[in-house]
Amino acid sequence: MSQLLFNLDTVIDTLAERGWVVIPNAMPATLTGELREACVEVWDQGRFHEAATGRADGQARRAEIRSDSVLWLDQAAELPAVRAYQAAMDEIMLAVNRGLYLGLAELESHFAVYPEGAFYKKHLDRFRDDDARTLTTVLYLNQDWPDDAGGEIRLYLDDACAEFIDVKPEAGTLVLFLSDRFWHEVLPARRQRLSVTGWYRRRIDSVRW
Ligand code: OGA
Ligand code: MN
Repeated sequence: MSQLLFNLDTVIDTLAERGWVVIPNAMPATLTGELREACVEVWDQGRFHEAATGRADGQARRAEIRSDSVLWLDQAAELPAVRAYQAAMDEIMLAVNRGLYLGLAELESHFAVYPEGAFYKKHLDRFRDDDARTLTTVLYLNQDWPDDAGGEIRLYLDDACAEFIDVKPEAGTLVLFLSDRFWHEVLPARRQRLSVTGWYRRRIDSVRW
């Protein structure tokens, strides 16, 4: 049974029109609750590592750029909540491919924990040497996130970064945006902040004509 609580067609239309969408209450509280518990469980097991920036040879820990810790979900595939998340995200991928012809082939995703005070400075998600990341997705897991707790994602809506929206990392809120177009940052969180971040990747050979 589908776990998606929103109208996929409307979301696809919005993405086609402007390249980003914010969906509050996108998934049931039972699923985000199970994901939160799973995230805390693997965190307590010490399975996270400090996030790096860049990829492959260019990877480096740059604490002045980002100070979250991550665990890739393929390392936690034994958890039923992770599989339920992946099934829901697959459903979105199929609909996006039907409606937007992005040729998405797979999702790479990780839990992210921002300890108190953590942030991620303004960046684009697409690596210079890897243009497979096409659509970014973030699902937040924090119940009753207070207005004054910071930790919003600030999504810049134009190339000049003149216009932006701030989105609270409230449980069930799902943010989708085109990875190569939208600058964004995570404002310093004043309490522990949990999320699942993912990138739908396209088949590179399918986009070279
Ligand atoms: C990222 C990122 C945003 C968020 O991990 O690349 O931008 O709100 N995350 O957690
Ligand atoms: Mn990002």
